Amino acid sequence: MSALLDGLQAHAQRLDGMPLARLLRDDPARAKEFALRCGPLYANFARQRYDRAALDALFVIAERADLAGALRRLLDGDTVNPTEDRPALHSALRGAATGSAFALAARAQALAAQLRMRELIDALAAGPVTDIVSIGIGGSDLGPRLVVDALALPGARFRVHFISNVDGHAARRVLAALDPARTAAVMISKTFGTQETLLNGAIVREWLGDDTRLYAVSTNAARVADFGIPPERTLPMWDWVGGRYSLWSAVGFPIALALGMERFEQLLEGAAALDAHALAAPLRENLPAWHALTAVWNRNGLHAATQAVLPYDDRLKLLPAYLQQLVMESLGKRVHLDGREVGIDTVPVWWGGAGTDTQHSFFQALHQGTQVVPADFIGVLRAEHPFAANHAALLANLLAQTEALANGQDSDDPHRRYPGNRPSTLLLLDALTPQALGMLIALYEHSVYLQSVLWEINAFDQFGVELGKQLASRLLPAVQGRGEAAAQVHDPVTRALLDELRAGQAP
Ligand code: F6P
Repeated sequence: MSALLDGLQAHAQRLDGMPLARLLRDDPARAKEFALRCGPLYANFARQRYDRAALDALFVIAERADLAGALRRLLDGDTVNPTEDRPALHSALRGAATGSAFALAARAQALAAQLRMRELIDALAAGPVTDIVSIGIGGSDLGPRLVVDALALPGARFRVHFISNVDGHAARRVLAALDPARTAAVMISKTFGTQETLLNGAIVREWLGDDTRLYAVSTNAARVADFGIPPERTLPMWDWVGGRYSLWSAVGFPIALALGMERFEQLLEGAAALDAHALAAPLRENLPAWHALTAVWNRNGLHAATQAVLPYDDRLKLLPAYLQQLVMESLGKRVHLDGREVGIDTVPVWWGGAGTDTQHSFFQALHQGTQVVPADFIGVLRAEHPFAANHAALLANLLAQTEALANGQDSDDPHRRYPGNRPSTLLLLDALTPQALGMLIALYEHSVYLQSVLWEINAFDQFGVELGKQLASRLLPAVQGRGEAAAQVHDPVTRALLDELRAGQAP
């Protein structure tokens, strides 16, 4: 057990088997006192399986790990990504410039890029284009896709579509519904070396016919120019922003096109307000700190192998996919910053889906399966539709599920017994405004960072994704059937599978 987490285990053992229902009966005040609010975002942690003594121990860990100092270093632009020798200044993109010279310089670059985004959007809006195709993958896709799906309004000036997967069916499906004469496209890639984005960009460029409607967002202006997109249609990105933290930059160009620049800026304002809260609030009142400590408690205290995220709002149905990258690419690490093996569990598997659909798919396992799955439930109080009965039913289901998971229900019939004691956090937004969504996403970003501080791992690199990419480019010639390339393949299973591919592809 890491020295940092000493003390946590004793509380976990003390509380082992202690029903949540009893924790709440013995200390009913926790229902309100284990809750925090930051503007339109309310979080209730009362249904987590810690008591006040365990929470005290968690906050001692937070002090020892200097979570407050870590947040300050992040927002100041310190080198929080030492393996790549970089800061991670996503906060500067949304206005949280601290006094540090680096953060202020980053903020100035971000504002200049926002001005260019506005100019490009105005120019496009003056022309015939009605549809935008966004081409990118991972951090260059999931954030914009989530926000556009959540917040785009019917009748907006531009409809925005996304192509990410290298599977050609993805491009074919999206393009089939569009008219090239009324479409513009934007290739988003921090490196501009990502196979999927280059292949899909080539497809779209040819389909467009007129490549004056092809735009780019990247740090690598030279590669963009080689692809044939000139500087006047290229928006910048910087190595001080991680891909999965980049929706606030020009990577959010599709968001600004779909929502309009004003609502894009409101999204940034919401995130900046959460940044300000994270910096200023004492740890006991600090939302990202509570969220991160809860995650570490569930992982290292309760040994939960997975974590569910369950938005009860159809507009947030892409949130689990977005968070899978944010959380698992950031925290899926097995060595400390100094290279030592971590020796305890780091990130669990994050998964989920929107309620109430998921109640009719995997909730059976959440209620009666052998694994306890901590869950983040997310609800939105005010709906933007006129179907009041549906909204009441949605909220009733949200409340019912968190209560049923926590309290369970006894029965003489083992098949009908609900063990309960399944922890959850409830996050509520007053309404799904751009500000509130910005705040929610920023909460998860900072929680992820604080978890990395507690585990002493780097949240901002992702070397684990490289090996597969390298092997794929080495195998490509063999898959394409070049005989001499197949001879270079040494792994016997891959060789056997290549034979199968060839047999299957033969006419
Ligand atoms: O999946 C690995 C990754 O490097 C992500 O971190 C990144 O968001 C994605 O690929 C796309 O990279 P790029 O923006 O350089 O195309």
